[in-house]
Amino acid sequence: MIHIAPSLLSADFTDLKTEIQSVSDAGADWLHLDIMDGHFVPNITFGPFIVEFCRKVTNLVLDVHLMIENPEKYIEAFVNAGADMISIHAETCPHIHRQIQFIKSLGVKAGVAVNPATGIDFLDYVIDDLDMVLFMTVNPGFSGQKFITPVLKKIDLFNQRYKHLLKKDFIIQVDGGVNAETCGMLTKRGVNCLVSGNYFFKHPNRKQAVEILRGGDI
Ligand code: DX5
Ligand code: ZN
Repeated sequence: MIHIAPSLLSADFTDLKTEIQSVSDAGADWLHLDIMDGHFVPNITFGPFIVEFCRKVTNLVLDVHLMIENPEKYIEAFVNAGADMISIHAETCPHIHRQIQFIKSLGVKAGVAVNPATGIDFLDYVIDDLDMVLFMTVNPGFSGQKFITPVLKKIDLFNQRYKHLLKKDFIIQVDGGVNAETCGMLTKRGVNCLVSGNYFFKHPNRKQAVEILRGGDI
């Protein structure tokens, strides 16, 4: 099963409820929520307040991607707002092990995200505790950017080193520039969760967009 996680960042914010409804109507099963602080990334989006409203209008898995410094200060607020899954960035976090345990102690799933040029050696020591790894295939901050192809080498390395250790329901997620041209290269590498901002929300037929992403059609 390949999970499709449309990123709300590309939605029409004047009509959020309808946009969120369209995600489940299209057959996607997750909703990806990009939280940016203007420090770790050069953009500011929204906080737990909006996540709480999302929770009120949907049963989709709420996948909260924290692109913020000092994520430990806000994790609990996002869980209270209704997040099902919290990802923190390795680059923001000197105490990754502690933060993963903290996220899990709050009863939600824990992911770690890595920027395109960030290595994955640290996973040796936390892979057993994680539910998800998020490979960024753009530099985080904006939707609609071009897919950074060398990240595929990192996914190959990840598979060589960790695939045999993963729990059955482990999530390998990719975020950034995912579309009809790039999805096949990912799913054939075992990526089982595709985040999609622009491709999904700008597609004239969102149901078809989900089918194409799942099928890996080119
Ligand atoms: C980028 C965000 C992504 C972004 C994806 O910083 O983390 O989730 O919204 O958008 P697309 O699919 O348009 O690259
Ligand atoms: Zn994201």
